Amino acid sequence: MAKKNTYVIANWKMNPETLKEAKELFASVKKKTVKCSRTAVVVCPPSLFVSALASKSMAVLLGVQNIYFESKGSFTGEISAPMAKSMGVSHVILGHSERRAMGETDAMVNKKVHAALAGKLVPVVCIGEEARDRNGEYLAVIKQQITEVLEGVSAKDVKRILITYEPIWAIGKSDKESVTPGQLHETILYLRKILSELYDRKTALSLPMLYGGSVEPGNAEQLLAGGDISGFLVGHASLEADSFARIVESAERT
Ligand code: PGA
Repeated sequence: MAKKNTYVIANWKMNPETLKEAKELFASVKKKTVKCSRTAVVVCPPSLFVSALASKSMAVLLGVQNIYFESKGSFTGEISAPMAKSMGVSHVILGHSERRAMGETDAMVNKKVHAALAGKLVPVVCIGEEARDRNGEYLAVIKQQITEVLEGVSAKDVKRILITYEPIWAIGKSDKESVTPGQLHETILYLRKILSELYDRKTALSLPMLYGGSVEPGNAEQLLAGGDISGFLVGHASLEADSFARIVESAERT
């Protein structure tokens, strides 16, 4: 398989309502993205649907939206990295703001990052501020998040992580209310600066960084061209196979 250098990851969140709809959406996504060669396409459905969607076809990869940091035991309602791996899952979204709003802390996300790496899953690690203030205090929030979630992760292992900038204020809106390419570029530069302090310059510059928050066909191309990113985590637009496929096409063209 040719090396993939862009990533488009679908975060279905708690959608759709039935397995029938999930199968239809997944089949449609597969069909519409079958020609892509440079872009890794990953769909993260509710974990309950994973086994029904798993197949030998590697054209579309499967991810889950969360794992617990222990590998097994008395943790009612949780799933673990080895369980996900054994179902054919390759990626896991960690630290999404909707989970943080339910009480997940940077320390917990950090433990999950280690569990995912140990379980040979690719962690898609979300960080992002709630709001932007004129004094740039949100930059300190981002710095603290990235520093804490990567605590204890080696320079070798950080290369297996897809760091995803997801400003909370831009999630679930429209392409018009999303981040601008300029704002994105600035923030990614800042993240790379912190990464070069945590690791080294070469590592910081080589890591693929993703963006999430109201990515739609209308802004995907611009964000890729001007944002210094390697792809997207897509929420609402991933529930519409056509829109999602158009975002994947934009990634293919970059
Ligand atoms: P959105 O969601 O694309 O609907 O803004 C992105 C996300 O929450 O991952």
